[in-house]
Amino acid sequence: PDNVGILAIEVYFPSSFVDQDKLEDFDGVSKGKYTKGLGQEQMGFCHDNEDINSLCLTVVARLMEKNHINYTEIGRLEVGTETIIDKSKSVKSVLMQLFDDSGNYDVEGVDTSNACYGGTSALFNAVSWVESSAWDGRFALVVCGDIAVYASGNARCTGGAGAIAMLVGPSAPLVIESGLRASYMRHAYDFYKPDLTSEYPIVDGKLSVQSYITALDNCYQTFCQKASKKLKTKSFNLSHMDFMMFHSPYCKLVQKSLARIVLNDFVRKELQNYPEEDQSGFDHLSNIKDVSLEDSVFDKNIEKAFMAASERLFSAKTKQSLLLSRRVGNMYTPSLYSCLASLLISTSLNDLPGKRIGLFSYGSGLAASMFSIRVTDQIGLPEVSGLPKVTGHPTFTLHSLVSGLLDINHRLEQRTQIEPEEFTAVLECREKHHTASNYSPTATPELLFPGTFHLTLVDNKFRRTYQRK
Ligand code: ACO
Repeated sequence: PDNVGILAIEVYFPSSFVDQDKLEDFDGVSKGKYTKGLGQEQMGFCHDNEDINSLCLTVVARLMEKNHINYTEIGRLEVGTETIIDKSKSVKSVLMQLFDDSGNYDVEGVDTSNACYGGTSALFNAVSWVESSAWDGRFALVVCGDIAVYASGNARCTGGAGAIAMLVGPSAPLVIESGLRASYMRHAYDFYKPDLTSEYPIVDGKLSVQSYITALDNCYQTFCQKASKKLKTKSFNLSHMDFMMFHSPYCKLVQKSLARIVLNDFVRKELQNYPEEDQSGFDHLSNIKDVSLEDSVFDKNIEKAFMAASERLFSAKTKQSLLLSRRVGNMYTPSLYSCLASLLISTSLNDLPGKRIGLFSYGSGLAASMFSIRVTDQIGLPEVSGLPKVTGHPTFTLHSLVSGLLDINHRLEQRTQIEPEEFTAVLECREKHHTASNYSPTATPELLFPGTFHLTLVDNKFRRTYQRK
């Protein structure tokens, strides 16, 4: 099959959020630290009646309904998550409840975990399956979901929650470019979850940022080498990416990452190969001589110079991908794909066909990859004949994919703002009951969006039951 990639996307985020400006006051940090220093506006969070299973149930059910897909049409379903509530039973197996009415239990795939990277691994696996001799002609479904919560302290403001489902198959409006992929994987204790009785990670914040940037440098250098070979171009640099997206722990790190790509191109002596209009702002870089990538990760002068020089490129290629990240926070595995969804709804449809989107996925521990998506040349407006489709679902087009995401802005506005005091109480409640059995959630479904699955009971054998609002 040709042009394997993403046919449809569905995004779910919690209906409750806390305001970062208010959180600064509540936490007693210097004004502007979370909003300006980290670039975050709001943070989504879950009450005790949502867990990783319910988030994924919700997003899959919504994707299937919106796109009129029958559960018999799914041949592979894989979940990327680092939110572990069971050491053995996968989230994928819980999602199989949704298949009961269809009778289709012939569905490959289980869960994949490595911090924020599991979703990317699941996506690569799904693409490989469709491209392989094992493919049986049906769709693959990739689900990423997480509840990102930190112990009280300086990392708490970088939490978030959500789930994203992506339908994968041939003739896709978003094609995963084959052969354009670079990975960087190493052992690091920058962020990990060794305490299985707690939802919280152990974080070395500084090491996590250093690991992220080092992984970015390495993935980008390898990607450029592979890309110029594959595309048979003399050079490959940022100008070959029309849009560039990054896993977003917080928006400021993403802006720094785009600046870091420009620094990489500076070191590679590629800046002179950028189109002339993209070189404005680069003049004052001429007095910077030798820069070592390894030594410059925390070099504030270098960072400042390249942030300033790349500001226009950031606005053109990256900024519009941060809508969900800014307003929901770090969803972990869905973060990068929330950037994709944000980009698609924040860019004019006419500006998308034929474009190349670069994606950088990072998961602590660490696993990272850079890859690219080629947007189809055709918008694929729906036929205006007015005649109803008799059989099957309509074909998946760029138009149908983006249309399916347009409710995001409305849903962001429909959320309920919760005060920091109550947000803190909710996290304390989650903390207390994280490993509880015989537990009925204290939160009522009242605040949830219609159609949301929610936890109703953890019985005395830790079996979980859900209902749909
Ligand atoms: N106004 C404007 N900016 C401010 C203000 C203010 N009043 N106060 C602080 N800042 C700036 C700082 O200068 C700093 O900017 P810089 O990074 O450009 O130097 C920024 O705000 C953050 O301040 P720090 O003091 O560095 O923040 P802190 O050390 O408290 O923690 C951190 C930040 C490490 C991100 C923490 O929130 C954390 O550990 N988060 C979780 C780990 C994480 O997300 N890591 C990223 C990759 S791994 C992953 O995806 C999970």
